[in-house]
Amino acid sequence: MAFLIPSREARPGDDPIFALNAEARSRAQAGEAIVNATVGSLLDDDGRIATLPTVVEALRSTPPAVVAAYAPIAGNSDFLRGVVRDLLGDRPEAKMAATVATPGGTGALRHTIANFLEPGQTLLTTSFYWGPYKTLADESDRQLATFRMFDERGALDVDAFRSALSKALAEQRRALVFLNSPCHNPTGYSFDDIEWGKVCDVVEELSSHGPIALVLDVAYARFGAQPLDLMVGRVCKLAGKALVAFAWSASKTFLEYGIRVGALVVLHPDDDERRRIQNALSYSCRGTWSNVNAGGMAAISSVLLDAELAGRVDRERKGYVDLLARRVARFNELAGAAGFSYPRYDGGFFTTVFTPDAFGAAEKLKAMGVFVVPQAGALRVALCSVAERDIPRLVESIQKVI
Ligand SMILES: Cc1ncc(COP(=O)(O)O)c(C=O)c1O
Repeated sequence: MAFLIPSREARPGDDPIFALNAEARSRAQAGEAIVNATVGSLLDDDGRIATLPTVVEALRSTPPAVVAAYAPIAGNSDFLRGVVRDLLGDRPEAKMAATVATPGGTGALRHTIANFLEPGQTLLTTSFYWGPYKTLADESDRQLATFRMFDERGALDVDAFRSALSKALAEQRRALVFLNSPCHNPTGYSFDDIEWGKVCDVVEELSSHGPIALVLDVAYARFGAQPLDLMVGRVCKLAGKALVAFAWSASKTFLEYGIRVGALVVLHPDDDERRRIQNALSYSCRGTWSNVNAGGMAAISSVLLDAELAGRVDRERKGYVDLLARRVARFNELAGAAGFSYPRYDGGFFTTVFTPDAFGAAEKLKAMGVFVVPQAGALRVALCSVAERDIPRLVESIQKVI
């Protein structure tokens, strides 16, 4: 007797990245010299997970009564104020924000799918994208479509974006777009100011065709080579024409992936519409996870709102941003010399190397003790988890198999 409904019967049990990571770790534990470039967490050059001492201390010193109590459904108000300030500073658009706390950026993305698309409709993102976008769409009975990410010159393909957005609006009379920059996962690409300008022009131009929700997935905001504020300034100008939403996450910003703290910030200038959006998002919280980790939110609020703690955290994070920058520079030097085809990479956790048979290449790499994540046409290389001294072996191995 089949208990699962038909649409759930063929769900894969394992997340492919977590499965590859588990295999790499078990071979390393058995004594093999493994290069594990699969994990999306920042590891130091000794393979230990990187943490920020001031954040760890804030978590430790959160009173047990705060940790134990339920948080408000929409999230701790100090936390939400801190997130809005982190994203928007003193901008007037900060007053237009509907906000809810979510379990990581993942929860924020989930809520946009459930609230800004009808069941069966399709969200739009770049042709290279973080796999869970599709999982989130599937899980909510929505679809995912992509537009070609890079043009012939390796720049963001804004024309492809315009036609895909125009098609989505023609077909479903509304559109939901996920854009992940800076430090796009998996390609490492960060849109530059000109590209953001063009993206905003397209959204503005097509906004009369139907409601467009533009979701900025800024999970890697603190690792980009450019300040996030450049992009924020541009997209804020769209508020009122399109729905501008930020999926904010403490996972990478504070190197605390496991506390599951994030937020969704949605900008709308109209008070009544903003109230309806706020209500819908709070309702979604109640109808999914109920409320977010209270201790995690309290600790993150303190490091967001206390200027002295925030300064300390910034200094601590800078050490890791620099560590990553050294790996990126080493990779660029060696990969450039090896003739790899890969997108502009100026910071962030990942890059991808283009190769037609990525799955075959990844299998061969595994046999050589090098783990990367294959996807159609590219190998994702998580430099965040590879020690600088292992980058030459990583690049040489990739060169042999592509
Ligand atoms: C592109 C992207 N968006 C969002 C997230 C959300 O992560 P979390 O739910 O841990 O905040 C991740 C995490 O890997 C990511 O890579």
